[in-house]
Amino acid sequence: MKSIAAIALESNQLLSIEEIEVMPPGEGEVLVEIAATGVCHTDAVMLEGLNSKASFPTILGHEGAGRVVECGTGVNSVAVGDSVIPLYGAECRQCPHCISQRTNLCWSIRETRDQGTMPDGSTRFWLNGLPINHFMGTSTFSRYTVVPEIALAKIRSDTPLDKVCLLGCGVTTGVGAVLNDADVRPGDSVAVFGLGAVGLSAIQGARIAGAMTIIAIDINPAKEAIARKLGATHFINPNTIGQRTVECIADLTAGGVDTSIECTGVLSVMRDAVEAAHVGWGTCVLTGVEASGQEVSIPPVWVRYGRTVKGSYFGGVRGRSELPTYVDMYMNGLIEIDALISHNLKIQDVNQAFDLMRSGQSTRSVLHFE
Ligand code: NAI
Ligand code: ZN
Repeated sequence: MKSIAAIALESNQLLSIEEIEVMPPGEGEVLVEIAATGVCHTDAVMLEGLNSKASFPTILGHEGAGRVVECGTGVNSVAVGDSVIPLYGAECRQCPHCISQRTNLCWSIRETRDQGTMPDGSTRFWLNGLPINHFMGTSTFSRYTVVPEIALAKIRSDTPLDKVCLLGCGVTTGVGAVLNDADVRPGDSVAVFGLGAVGLSAIQGARIAGAMTIIAIDINPAKEAIARKLGATHFINPNTIGQRTVECIADLTAGGVDTSIECTGVLSVMRDAVEAAHVGWGTCVLTGVEASGQEVSIPPVWVRYGRTVKGSYFGGVRGRSELPTYVDMYMNGLIEIDALISHNLKIQDVNQAFDLMRSGQSTRSVLHFE
């Protein structure tokens, strides 16, 4: 089948809009027509070659929503016409990780996903006889994409796909990091570092959990208004406060926040987020993705004196089992998504979407195929 797709031929090059050939789904695989896809910071990290898994040429995109067009043999949990969200984290329900019920990290098909192929080791995308890699097992920058059945969340059919696509990554990561991986109690204080889709969603998670003080931190002053709209009670711009961010947070909270959530991927910010957690009990949850090989260091006494440092992957959410609940939270008005979408563009404008993200002008751009 022919499909329009944005191809990343090499790192640090503009994506190229091409007509590709998409092979039919194999056993246990599903052909999905993507309706819309967000552009996430993690796509940029890959495009900049900073991801150790970088393998070009590839089709980026991991924050999409669409409908099932065709099912390969053996597929029985979704059917043609179903609304679905592709998952970069599968949920096989059979591997030791899934059975443990202690993590949402299903690694059953991780190896081939990271190699840029389907679980059988081959790709379903071809451009002029050249195989094109998959990215994160989702490749939502193609109108038609092939996804393993175990990496598809079936969702209710009455949702706007061009909104709930953000539940494929950013919104779920931010809300879930607070609701699943932190321990925010009513009346608590929370600091959120970095106000992209992930951070703004973490603010929403803090609000839902009943936090009383929600401190939003970003070097881009334009983020203040939307952060306050979504529940932030304070805004800090580290570039203009004239003191260290951590000191400013300590002043606002009598010593530190109960929970800090880092959503930038910047090492110095990660360190600040750990330090900002209250001595004795504060928890810091890291969500940002560092460039491959980077490390962050902290004085051990910070954790010896009672701070907890954790990380969060896709908000701790098991995609197939739990994403439908997040869709319900959106449909019931508990989670705001529409306000996060600053730009609606066509897939042909994908490079503009990356420019808007890098310049800080966009909160989230959504690319449309329809
Ligand atoms: P984004 O690029 O839209 O937003 C990042 C925000 O951080 C921007 O508003 C920027 O102005 C701000 N920022 C940058 N440097 C800063 C600094 N020094 N101090 C304060 N603020 C600063 O990114 P997005 O899409 O919201 O993703 C955030 C991070 O989360 C990225 O590192 C991304 O790769 C990662 N991520 C992690 C996931 C996970 O499962 N853990 C899933 C999705 C994204
Ligand atoms: Zn993402």
